[in-house]
Amino acid sequence: SDRTNVAIIGMGTVGAGVARLLIDHGDRTARHAGKTIWLSKAVVRDLSKPRGIDLPEGVLTDSIDDVLNDPEIDVVIQLMGGLSPAREVMLRAMEAGKDIVTANKALLAEHGAELFTRARELGRSIAFEAAVAGGIPIIANISQCLSANQIESLEGILNGTSNFIVSQMDEKGAGYEETVKRAQELGYAEADPAMDVDGTDAAQKLAILSHLAFGATVDWRDIPRQGIDGLDPADLVYARQLGYRIKLLATARLVDGELELSVAPTLVAIGTPMAEVRDAFNAIRVVGDAVGPVFYHGLGAGQMPTASAVVADVIDTAVGRTPITFETLEYFSAERPPRTAQRD
Ligand code: NDP
Ligand code: HSE
Repeated sequence: SDRTNVAIIGMGTVGAGVARLLIDHGDRTARHAGKTIWLSKAVVRDLSKPRGIDLPEGVLTDSIDDVLNDPEIDVVIQLMGGLSPAREVMLRAMEAGKDIVTANKALLAEHGAELFTRARELGRSIAFEAAVAGGIPIIANISQCLSANQIESLEGILNGTSNFIVSQMDEKGAGYEETVKRAQELGYAEADPAMDVDGTDAAQKLAILSHLAFGATVDWRDIPRQGIDGLDPADLVYARQLGYRIKLLATARLVDGELELSVAPTLVAIGTPMAEVRDAFNAIRVVGDAVGPVFYHGLGAGQMPTASAVVADVIDTAVGRTPITFETLEYFSAERPPRTAQRD
């Protein structure tokens, strides 16, 4: 068809940004998809809340069933956050024949195996570029652009809220509580910001990246983790005096064939690229055996950077080229396919 109909479930920070791109920049999406991408429905809980965007008549609804029961809707953009009912909504949407785009890393880290298995059974796709590092295209890079490599290590700043808080405390002498509140106002934080500051969000993202980069099935709860919630502001000052900044680093490294994982506040030498990552920016340094080190830097949280990744996934889904194919995931999670290398 010359038109792909999409619905957004969850019109909060990210959903409203996605709606803005789809409505205000239909020319871009049409150019890249080769067809119109049409926002048919946008689901919220509270119809009376202002959304900061002019939606066409009849688009906004508080009924998820309006989406799930509409056979004309091809793609569901799941941006409601949380595990339930997000999981059930995704399963029902796929059963109703819809492909999924989501930014919900908590859900994928918790129920990814079930959701991808079901997607495979139903012949549906789940795209999730926005689930890790917001606007940085790290999922596509690890699973596609670097696929000729054995990834040896990856380390990064994967939680924008924590980096924002630590940067503001370090550089502006801001207080912890006021900075958490500011991160919430700016739309960086999770609905429960404890997930950001205690290292949970970074561990969930690291589990997803480890799956793609190393073929490891990792339960995020097994990753040793410490957040920035216990950081003493004096530590930031002492670190600076010694020539370091403290960053919440998520690390995955192959050591003698074993994968070592951690999330922890870490001393990073001032002047290195990782130490200069400020505010809600994220960064990831990946080392591959062929490419060597590659460094990615960009906004890891916030409305439009995240919407940028979501809408790119929507375009890919509309033309049937989602970066993560079932085959890729199966390759990682099940027995490896037969070797076809010219030389082993
Ligand atoms: P918000 O809390 O701002 O928005 C959530 C939206 O979902 C709200 O519009 C809410 O409706 C709606 N919603 C929640 N539950 C239901 C329900 N049961 N039925 C219908 N609608 C519901 O979240 P964000 O936009 O910040 O995040 C969305 C997702 O994207 C999350 O999974 C988050 O982890 C992820 N993410 C967020 C990033 C960010 O920078 N904010 C970056 C990357 C990923 P209502 O407004 O009426 O309450
Ligand atoms: N709360 C998350 C963060 C949003 O601060 O990084 C992006 O995933």
